[in-house]
Amino acid sequence: MCEQVIPNPPNIIAIDGPAASGKSTIGNLIANRLDYICLDTGIMYRAVACKALREGIDVFDAEKISALSERIKIDIRHASEEDGRQFDVLIDGADHTWHIRSPEVNQVVSEVSVYPRVRGAMTELQREIAKNGRIVMIGRDIGTVVLPDADLKIYLEASVEVRAQRRYVEELGRGKKVCLVDIEESLRHRDEIDSGRSIAPLRAADDAVIVNSDDMTVYEVVEHVMRIIAQR
Ligand code: CDP
Ligand code: CDP
Repeated sequence: MCEQVIPNPPNIIAIDGPAASGKSTIGNLIANRLDYICLDTGIMYRAVACKALREGIDVFDAEKISALSERIKIDIRHASEEDGRQFDVLIDGADHTWHIRSPEVNQVVSEVSVYPRVRGAMTELQREIAKNGRIVMIGRDIGTVVLPDADLKIYLEASVEVRAQRRYVEELGRGKKVCLVDIEESLRHRDEIDSGRSIAPLRAADDAVIVNSDDMTVYEVVEHVMRIIAQR
């Protein structure tokens, strides 16, 4: 692989798209190539959902979930264990790296993500992290709301069937017992809430480059995005 050095790459790169469209895989690889940091903002919403479940807070209690999102402390650190994790996710000091990916969290994360105060708290943290630039930020509303002045916006999409199949293979690879039909159903559920909410819905920014990866490998998507970056 020829890894070309790109002079003056876009300083802030936003990658949005539906669940399991390849955002974190592609985003991390792009960030590595550019020597940028990569922030997957989904982790933050997952952390709020995870903590709510642990504390027994009803996810439909807007006031309690909002208050939780304003006091929660989320740390993303270098991986301390070699168990397939890309990094550690600490919630109020405790390691919840794998809990945030559980089916229980998948089931409620989109519900907690609709509340305006939750979005406000997360958006503020995300903008603070992006302040120094040299960042690839991944989410649903990065190009539209969080960083509307991002230098490059990519919207990654793939059909729900392809996304479900990929997530299924990923989870099987982690040794989990999973059902393809359940995964597809869970993705459809989240897509529907994420696209339908009134605040910061999932959508491509008007100036985003749309990349459909239905027929592309991870490598092909990375090469495609790197070409877009080189042309900026
Ligand atoms: O990895 P996956 O695409 O399955 O999900 P994620 O990126 O970890 O995001 C989990 C959930 O957090 C999404 O389904 C959204 O409900 C919410 N989210 C959001 O509302 N805004 C973001 N910027 C990122 C995630
Ligand atoms: O971050 P997001 O939820 O959007 O997706 P991901 O976790 O990066 O990707 C979901 C799965 O699809 C991972 O196992 C990726 O390796 C895989 N993938 C793929 O096989 N081909 C692509 N073109 C993109 C992602």
